[in-house]
Amino acid sequence: MTATVTRVALCTLDDLPTGLGRAFEVGGRSLAVFRGREGEVFAVDGKCPHKGGPLADGMLIGTQIVCPLHAFRFDGRSGACDQESVCPTGAYPVEVSNGQVFITVPQS
Ligand code: FES
Repeated sequence: MTATVTRVALCTLDDLPTGLGRAFEVGGRSLAVFRGREGEVFAVDGKCPHKGGPLADGMLIGTQIVCPLHAFRFDGRSGACDQESVCPTGAYPVEVSNGQVFITVPQS
């Protein structure tokens, strides 16, 4: 079975502050979106899988998103957590084209 996905124009690259997160709602899904120093963009679920911390209020170190509550780190590409006891967060494909950021999320 193939999951249905939707590709959405999210914002411009200039709308994202380097190294900090910004919250978005896409199709009822809360997302945390980060821009790295090289212009790469990462999008993960907005709520930390540990205790629900707002990941958009965290920061980006390299490709790692740091939760503002307990500083667990999540890989911006895979969503994997650096703590074995915590499940990964959802991570979503992002493209940047002509300064526009597009995200692909499962349709809910
Ligand atoms: S709520 Fe995110 S690390 Fe605890």
